[in-house]
Amino acid sequence: MEAQITRLKDKVAIVTGAAQGIGRAIVMRLASEGAKVAVADIDIEGATRTANEIKASGGSAIAVKLDVTRLQDAIDAADRVEAELGPIDILLNNTGGPPPTRVLGTAPELWEAQFHSMVLVFFKLTEMLLPEMRERKWGRIINVASESVVQPIPQIAISNTLRGAVIGWAKTLAGEVARDGVTVNTLLPGAFATDRVLGVHMIGPTVSEMIGEVCLAMEFHADSEDVARTCHPHPTRSEALRQAAMGVDGWMTQA
Ligand SMILES: NC(=O)c1ccc[n+]([C@@H]2O[C@H](COP(=O)([O-])OP(=O)(O)OC[C@H]3O[C@@H](n4cnc5c(N)ncnc54)[C@H](O)[C@@H]3O)[C@@H](O)[C@H]2O)c1
Repeated sequence: MEAQITRLKDKVAIVTGAAQGIGRAIVMRLASEGAKVAVADIDIEGATRTANEIKASGGSAIAVKLDVTRLQDAIDAADRVEAELGPIDILLNNTGGPPPTRVLGTAPELWEAQFHSMVLVFFKLTEMLLPEMRERKWGRIINVASESVVQPIPQIAISNTLRGAVIGWAKTLAGEVARDGVTVNTLLPGAFATDRVLGVHMIGPTVSEMIGEVCLAMEFHADSEDVARTCHPHPTRSEALRQAAMGVDGWMTQA
């Protein structure tokens, strides 16, 4: 990665689940745009490797241990990032995905646990960081969900169900904070060739790095032609993209 001091110079970003896969692609890209980044993950060795790679390329990064199943971890991680890097401007909510299950037979305890780690942790981190973003009149909340909210994937019942809650929450919140310069958008990946997808679904011919490109495009280049066609008819500023749920799936979903 070549560090270029550009659009995100001095912005502070935290990306959860960033040791590998989609989160890693995004955090690398944010850093290459000049952001000071926190690579937050349960896998602290992996997070440290990613942070070191960013630093070796001239970027600014710290690795933070964070288990999204534990809300207190999220609070502690955000506190540490603010203490070391400054107030957080960009929150990228991402996690490992749920185990494959069918609707029938999924235990209530598993639904509840996954609600905590796939949904509630997004709410918690966002609520924690929003007041300062609103005060500074600039903030970006970006959630990684799944194209499964549009087209359910057989045997990924938990994702098909709980990601919908993220979309409803994000779109509602977007309206509540838009006037304060904070945007809330959600990416819906299709099938990127990360370890998770190769392990669970055996598909994924596309590269995870693409999502980093799209994330940036969605948030910071809202007038780029390709994204404009996908997301908004006439976006002229990044604020135009403030409550999108955006498919990034190589045309996998046609619904
Ligand atoms: N890859 C795709 O095409 C695709 C498609 C749709 C949705 N998604 C969703 O996007 C998200 C990221 O997927 P990916 O393919 O990059 O997965 P991945 O397995 O490659 O990476 C997930 C990252 O999250 C971390 N993680 C796992 N459990 C964690 C926890 N409890 N706390 C903190 N970090 C944790 C892992 O250590 C890893 O670094 C998942 O929720 C996945 O379901 C991915």
